[in-house]
Amino acid sequence: MLDIGPGQGTQALRLARAGHLVTGLEADPAMLAAFRAAVAAEPADVRARVVVLQGDGRETGRHFGPACFDVVLCHGVLMYVPDPEPMLAALARVLAPGGLLSLLVRNGDALAMRPGLLGDWGTALQAFGSAGSAGYAGYVNRLGLATRADRLAPLTQTLAGICAPLHAWYGVRVFTDAAPDHAVVPSDPGALAALLDAEEAAGRADPYRGVAALLHVCGLRT
Ligand SMILES: C[S@@+](CC[C@H](N)C(=O)[O-])C[C@H]1O[C@@H](n2cnc3c(N)ncnc32)[C@H](O)[C@@H]1O
Repeated sequence: MLDIGPGQGTQALRLARAGHLVTGLEADPAMLAAFRAAVAAEPADVRARVVVLQGDGRETGRHFGPACFDVVLCHGVLMYVPDPEPMLAALARVLAPGGLLSLLVRNGDALAMRPGLLGDWGTALQAFGSAGSAGYAGYVNRLGLATRADRLAPLTQTLAGICAPLHAWYGVRVFTDAAPDHAVVPSDPGALAALLDAEEAAGRADPYRGVAALLHVCGLRT
């Protein structure tokens, strides 16, 4: 599996612990150092399943041959890339036939939801006018960075164009997106399980998934 923009390696390490061979390609030296430190703290068998590389996900050709991964993750990264198409084409290139492209993107169709639920009416109103003609919407994220959201219809077209047509999509953070940054995770396991079950159910069902903060979009390489 290839994880593009793994950050500190949260997902990559979960996959490696589950037995998968994972390569992480990370652009930022500080995140890379955090990822390497996290790998070093793992047992030897997990460490042996992880490769950490520095590089840009748009330049897979510098690191890998074509069609060499069964799964490519790109979670929480496309919002930082001004144009998603070169990144997506570079990812499709390294996917083996039948391989899964797993994207987690900010949902550009529902940018008014978070500010609206927080009572920030000015930002909510701005969001209604933020979708550009190419279908990409700009927004300022919680870290104060100007970032970009993706809309499902143009993303679906792009996936068809790179031979990784849409296979499935889900909403992520339907009910919990307006929670404060430092909200406490419920300590009662039953309450946490119920919260997660409610999110999971909403993320799979219309109309809820369409207004989720994030979209988990999966393409399958033809
Ligand atoms: C919000 S974090 C997501 C981390 C991880 N994927 C997750 O879901 O927990 C975004 C990461 O993508 C990295 N990144 C941004 N643009 C990138 C690019 N063009 N190529 C590789 N990594 C990139 C950032 O340095 C950062 O570590």
